[in-house]
Order: sequence, then C-alpha cells, then structure tokens
Amino acid sequence: MAKLKTAVLISGRGSNMQALIDYCAAPNATAEIALVLSNISDAAGLDRAAEANIPSITIDHKQYADRASFEAAVTQTLEDHDIQLVCLAGFMRLLTNTFVDHWRDRLINIHPSLLPAFKGLDTHERVLAEGVRFTGCTVHYVRSEMDAGPIIVQAAVPVLPDDDPESLAMRVLVAEHRCYPYALSLIAGGKTQVINEKVVIDGAQAPGATFLNPTDVA
Ligand code: GAR
Repeated sequence: MAKLKTAVLISGRGSNMQALIDYCAAPNATAEIALVLSNISDAAGLDRAAEANIPSITIDHKQYADRASFEAAVTQTLEDHDIQLVCLAGFMRLLTNTFVDHWRDRLINIHPSLLPAFKGLDTHERVLAEGVRFTGCTVHYVRSEMDAGPIIVQAAVPVLPDDDPESLAMRVLVAEHRCYPYALSLIAGGKTQVINEKVVIDGAQAPGATFLNPTDVA
C-alpha cells in the first residue's frame, strides 16, 4: 500500500516533527514524511530533517506582502510535492480561512493543552495560574478558529505541586511525542472519519483508544 505523503510545518525546535519522522521510519508505518517546511530559515528542526535525509524548504513569511501570498506559496510547494496530509508541529503562524478550507480534513495540529481549554500561547503559565490538576495535549483537525477543530487524540498529564512552566512543558512534551505519531498512524491507516465535526475512529467514537494513562507520562 502506498504511504500517505505527509508534510510537517515547523517554526522552531521540531521535536514533534522528530517524533513523526521516527514513527515513519518503522517498516510498517503507513505514512512517510515527504517534506519539512519552515517559515524560519534557521529553525533547529531543519537540521533534524537534514539528518534524516528528508527534503526541507524555508518559505520566509517576511518575504511576502501579506498572509494570502505567503500561504499561496506554501500551498503551491505542498502540492508540487503531492502532499496528502499537512501536520503543523510548532508552526507559529496563524492561518487564514482560505488555507484552512483548502486543506480541510488534510491539516492537523498539536497543541499543548486539553483543548478546548487553554488555547493560544503561554499555555503552561496559564495552566499553573489556574491551579488545574491535569493538563495534557491534543491533536486535532484544523478549523479556522485558533486551536480548534475535531479532536483526534488527547492525553492527560498531571500537574505536580512544584511544577514551573518548564517542568510542566517537558512532561506534556513526552505525551505530545506519543500522541502525534499515534494520530498520524490512525489517519494514515484510514481509520479516521470526521462526522458532524467529531472524529470517529474505526466506526466508533473511541475515547478509550485515544487516551494515554497519565501515570505513563508522570
Ligand atoms: C509544542 O509543545 C507544540 O505543542 C506547541 O509548540 C511546541 C513546539 O515544539 N504548539 C503550539 O503551542 C501551537 N499552538 P517542537 O517544535 O519541539 O515540536
């Protein structure tokens, strides 16, 4: 079976991209990372892509007059590479409705909270300020509102009494690195459908199958 041609869009470190690359290196993986695209020319993730012999390209948003022309260049590049699925992995650009609609149900994102809680930036600071006992991460199909869309995989992660934003971010990141490849495997395996804006997996909404035990990542 042909593997799902997947692109990863990054702006920085690229640790989630690395988790997707590592998953795709398994012989039985049903996806391949065919392209890494960054909007930042010196993003550390580009070095990781080079080490893995994965083609990469920088499209610097500052070189474009507006979001529309930047995104048109991104879409053109993705289509030139016959990309079937786009994974946002720390890609720190807001996307317009035009881009999101063009890639509808072929565009996914990871966010370091249990959405719909704590959308946006400075997630872990706000989690700690609220005193919640659990946070986590979410992989979701992208819709036009920021950090919103049908949820594919979530994992819950405990907040510990002596956490600071960095320690909490590291614990959540461990969960992210498990959830994102899992979500990709579900999509590439043809197991997901979006019905009434909910993700159905193998014909059933399956929260058990999309939940990682928080003690696994404590
Ligand atoms: C990750 O924690 C990801 O969830 C977050 O940025 C980090 C990127 O790290 N994304 C967002 O906050 C998107 N709203 P990485 O470059 O090492 O994957």
